[in-house]
Amino acid sequence: MDLQELLGMASNFQEARVLLIAHDLGVFDAVGSGKGARRLAGYLGASPRGTRILLDCLVAVGLLRKRGSRYYNTGTAKAYLVSTSPHYMGPVLKLNGYMWERWSRLGEAVREGHLPKAEREFISDPVKNRNFILAMDLLGRDTAMKVARRLDLRGVRRVLDVGGGPGHYSMALVERSPRIEAVIVDLPLTLRVARELIERRGMGGKVRTREGDFFDPQCDLGEGYDLALASNILHIEDSAHNLDLLRRIYGALNPGGTVVVNEILVDATRARPKEAALFAINMLAATARGNVYTKAEISSWLREAGFMDIKTVRLDGRSTLLMGKRP
Ligand SMILES: C[S@@+](CC[C@H](N)C(=O)[O-])C[C@H]1O[C@@H](n2cnc3c(N)ncnc32)[C@H](O)[C@@H]1O
Repeated sequence: MDLQELLGMASNFQEARVLLIAHDLGVFDAVGSGKGARRLAGYLGASPRGTRILLDCLVAVGLLRKRGSRYYNTGTAKAYLVSTSPHYMGPVLKLNGYMWERWSRLGEAVREGHLPKAEREFISDPVKNRNFILAMDLLGRDTAMKVARRLDLRGVRRVLDVGGGPGHYSMALVERSPRIEAVIVDLPLTLRVARELIERRGMGGKVRTREGDFFDPQCDLGEGYDLALASNILHIEDSAHNLDLLRRIYGALNPGGTVVVNEILVDATRARPKEAALFAINMLAATARGNVYTKAEISSWLREAGFMDIKTVRLDGRSTLLMGKRP
């Protein structure tokens, strides 16, 4: 890395902050079909000086256009940053804003090993939880469809979706194979959002919800499932909790049933790929014991839990499936 790259790294928070603050202030909605700075300042309830400087910077980074003294949304802003757009990414930006607050306390997390006050806020604070789950839906829909396409669903009727969040994986499976009935086990606040999304897609009869803390050894996951998904949940906890959860998933499956773990994997150096190493930082700032894991670690938990024929399918840089069969 040369000096320019190093200095770039030291300041690359700037554009992110400009985007997140502009979205929080409601700039992209307020711009509408084009407005001047003074009028926009009035709309936003912000100072004329601050608004003008922010608007010009949004032009500089490519999110607004300026013609004369009026500002307009670019195509990208119209598609993803205006709240009435069908492709609105607001919840993802909000989630990044919450992460920003935690990442600002990273020094404390490194010193203490965790950030007690930030833990569980995405699952216990109703506003943050709703945003988190809506963001999971927006970020995960494509992967959910890829997963549904990659799995062998012959003979699969009952699916357990542990920590299914917004229900996008369950719904993708039902879409691919309408015989399937899925049960999402998750926490009450999350399930409130999930039920809304499931009803909106008319899948209430096929995707049901079951409240429970799946890391609690007493949590009843149900039984008689042909397939169990554990997608993006093992990074929340440590080896002991993950092994215990996989054992209970084993118990909930029918003989011949399959468990599918979906995770972002880190390689044996634990420093590659960069996305996984950064995701581990996110878990340090958000959980008491979470982390990213290697293929060898997850495979060994699967074997220890009793699963056989462990197979790995790499979907993309952020998602690898590890599958095992209950004999
Ligand atoms: C990162 S999201 C994963 C959502 C989805 N499975 C996916 O792959 O996109 C983690 C999910 O686990 C749920 N969760 C976290 N801790 C939990 C716990 N102890 N018991 C039940 N659900 C939990 C959250 O509510 C959230 O829906």
